[in-house]
Amino acid sequence: MEVIVTRDYDEMSKTAARVVAQVLNLKPNAVLGLATGSTPLGLYRELIRMHREEGLDFSQVTTFNLDEYVGLPRTHPQSYYYFMQENLFKHINVPKQNIYVPSGTTSNYAAFCQWYEQRIRECGGIDLQVLGIGTDGHIAFNEPSSSLGSRTRIKTLARQTIEDNARFFGSPDEVPVYAITMGVGTILEARKIMLLASGRQKAPAVAAAIEGPVTSMITASALQLHRDAMCIIDREAASQLKMLDYYEWVQAKMPNAP
Ligand code: F6R
Repeated sequence: MEVIVTRDYDEMSKTAARVVAQVLNLKPNAVLGLATGSTPLGLYRELIRMHREEGLDFSQVTTFNLDEYVGLPRTHPQSYYYFMQENLFKHINVPKQNIYVPSGTTSNYAAFCQWYEQRIRECGGIDLQVLGIGTDGHIAFNEPSSSLGSRTRIKTLARQTIEDNARFFGSPDEVPVYAITMGVGTILEARKIMLLASGRQKAPAVAAAIEGPVTSMITASALQLHRDAMCIIDREAASQLKMLDYYEWVQAKMPNAP
């Protein structure tokens, strides 16, 4: 896995935005897989800036979000649909009809999950998947013990995730217990994967994901099986990596390094 260690959150976000821009440059009608949460906020801010100031164009782009809380309508301020609207979509020119976020209020989740997977396939598959990582090592809402072959489905959130996400709600009791989430198998089918992580609280999960064994107990470790996965992480998130020196050496020796 390619590991890029950045000075801080800001540099992580800008590096990630450059990767998105490179993908769009090569393929203006790329399909992007997107994440919510605190981690990608800086990336989305930078993409908005690039759209406004540098003409980064999303007019042919299609997006699929990873997950959504079950029970929250699109209008709920904590729904991931609302989050994406506020923090990215309403500021760029991605066509409304090209935006897919799993539904948290469908009457038939099994059928919806199948349809979501089918839409991804019909759109040609995901070219670049953006991921965050939970403190328990999850990607999307694939909690520890999730099958590494899993597809889009309903998952029960782990207590740790509910506590982590309580900061967005009034209290842990208000965090929905279920989410609809792409599976690890769905994510692994993306052509390119970019995992972002920032802050010391992510360091144990990041180390386990990059350097630990591939295990369903840390679903992010499944990225080790992907042929084009990169981790862009800040120094704090990288602080428990045993091979940190090596990753920094590799970066310094890159042909186009500054
Ligand atoms: C969100 C998602 C989650 C988050 C993870 C980290 O769509 O899929 O896996 O990426 O929980 O969340 P933050 O970035 O808030 O620390």
